Amino acid sequence: MINHLVAPSLLAANFLKLDQEIQLVNQSEADWLHIDVMDGKFVPNISFGFPILNAIKEKCQKPLDVHLMIVEPEKYIARFRDHGAEIITVHVETCPHLHNTIQGIKATGAKAGVALNPHTPIIQIEHVLEDLDLVLVMSVNPGFGGQKFIYQTLVKLEELRERIIVRNLPTYIEVDGGVGLHNAEKILQSGANVLVAGSSVFKSPDPQNAISQLKSIGIDTIMV
Ligand code: DX5
Ligand code: ZN
Repeated sequence: MINHLVAPSLLAANFLKLDQEIQLVNQSEADWLHIDVMDGKFVPNISFGFPILNAIKEKCQKPLDVHLMIVEPEKYIARFRDHGAEIITVHVETCPHLHNTIQGIKATGAKAGVALNPHTPIIQIEHVLEDLDLVLVMSVNPGFGGQKFIYQTLVKLEELRERIIVRNLPTYIEVDGGVGLHNAEKILQSGANVLVAGSSVFKSPDPQNAISQLKSIGIDTIMV
């Protein structure tokens, strides 16, 4: 049995104090730093791109977990890898040639993830599951931090965990959106083993403690 991972989402950080926010993550129990890239096309918001990522790479000592909410992500995979991404996750809804895109990510040496929107069924990744290092289950509609967790996600997590167990795969199950201390235990019990947390970490009065508390939740009850 392994412990679950915690990946604070930088989207909720104070961008005027990015240096301090990253130092805080470096000194915390966080496992990865989650980076949300949005293009204003796939999602109705624009976040940040390569120059910021490059600056983050210079400072951050944790692996960069890059969540691409962009159309045609295959065009930019090599550049994201060059800019420090350790894990690159694309949305299934943006990839007509998903198998090829996953192979493209792996060819760079990065870990490959695929994200599912709240309405997207697991069947969409049925035939690539063996190729994936990570499945990101969106628990809000992507585009913004600070939204409410969609509870039907728990059923999807149980289903996904079941499939991963049956096929004896080491795939990470990451949950993103509305995750905090109030629901993390339930999420982990439902089968996730990576928690992305934006607002519940960076908007907390003590972000390091928030990370530490998320790390220490219900370890003995988790099925991994
Ligand atoms: C939403 C992003 C999330 C977001 C989570 O589209 O993918 O990573 O930062 O933020 P919270 O934890 O505040 O819901
Ligand atoms: Zn994200």
